[in-house]
Amino acid sequence: LFDVDEEKGVFDLLVKVVGVGSRILSQRSEREMVDLIGPLGNGFSLSDNSGQRELLTWSDSKHLIVAGGMGIAPMDVLARRVKERGEEVVVLFGAVSRNEVLCSSEFQELGALFVVSTEDGSLGKMGKVSSLIPEYLSRDKRIQIYACGPRGLLKEVVELSRREGLLCQVSMEERMACGLGACRSCVCKVGTESQFEYKRVCRDGPVFRGEELIVEKG
Ligand SMILES: Cc1cc2nc3c(=O)[nH]c(=O)nc-3n(C[C@H](O)[C@H](O)[C@H](O)COP(=O)(O)OP(=O)(O)OC[C@H]3O[C@@H](n4cnc5c(N)ncnc54)[C@H](O)[C@@H]3O)c2cc1C
Ligand code: FES
Repeated sequence: LFDVDEEKGVFDLLVKVVGVGSRILSQRSEREMVDLIGPLGNGFSLSDNSGQRELLTWSDSKHLIVAGGMGIAPMDVLARRVKERGEEVVVLFGAVSRNEVLCSSEFQELGALFVVSTEDGSLGKMGKVSSLIPEYLSRDKRIQIYACGPRGLLKEVVELSRREGLLCQVSMEERMACGLGACRSCVCKVGTESQFEYKRVCRDGPVFRGEELIVEKG
C-alpha cells in the first residue's frame, strides 16, 4: 500500500511484478473492478512502543525509515504522517542498482531527507543500506526506526536497535495462504531465544516491535 487519501476513499498500490499474482494485478486497467479483502493486520505506529505518547509531539524526536527494495512501498504514508506532525524524517533506501531506485521525488516533495545506497555503486553509497544507519544515529534526539525489506536487513536493524537501545518497528514479510489468521502458514517468533511464541504475520503483524522479534535467517 503506497498512498492513501482517506477523504476521497482512494489508495495507491506499488507493485513489483514477480510472478503470476502480481502480473495479473499489474494488467488491470482504469475503472476495472477487482475484489479486495482488507485492511488486514496492523501498520506502523507513530507512538513510542508503549503507546503512551501517541498524541504527543516529540520535538526532540527523529524518525529513521530504513527500506530495502520493495520495502519502500509502505513508507510514503508513514513519512507523510511524520511530516504532518512537524517532525524530522530521514529515509534510507537500499536497492540493487540505480534502475531499482523508486519514489525519490515523492519523498523529497514531502521534505524528507532521502538517502540512497546501491549494491553495485551506480547511485549513492555503494553497499547495503544498513551501512548508512550509524551516520544518522544522532545522540541528541530520540530515534525511532521503521524497517521493511529483505530478511537480512530486518535482522541487522533489529540487532542494531537492541545494541543501541533504540525504538524500532519492523514490517515482516512471509508467504501467506489465507491472510486471515486461520492457517498459521505465516508465523514468526516473538519473545526471547529461550522463551518465545509464534505470532501470525498476517493478523498479529506484519509490524512487530524490534525488541520482541526474533528474526531468523531467510
Ligand atoms: C505484509 C506484506 C506486504 C507486502 N507489500 C507489498 C507491496 O506493497 N508491493 C509489492 O510489490 N509486494 C508486496 N509484498 C510482496 C508480495 O505480496 C509478493 O511479491 C506477491 O504476493 C508475489 O505473488 P506472485 O503471485 O506475483 O508471485 P509468485 O508466483 O507467488 O512468486 C514469484 C517469485 O517471487 C517470490 N516471492 C513471492 N512472494 C514472496 C514473498 N512474500 N517474499 C519473498 N519472495 C516472494 C517467489 O519465491 C518467486 O521467486 C508484500 C508482502 C507482504 C507479506
Ligand atoms: S496467512 Fe493464514 S494465518 Fe497468516
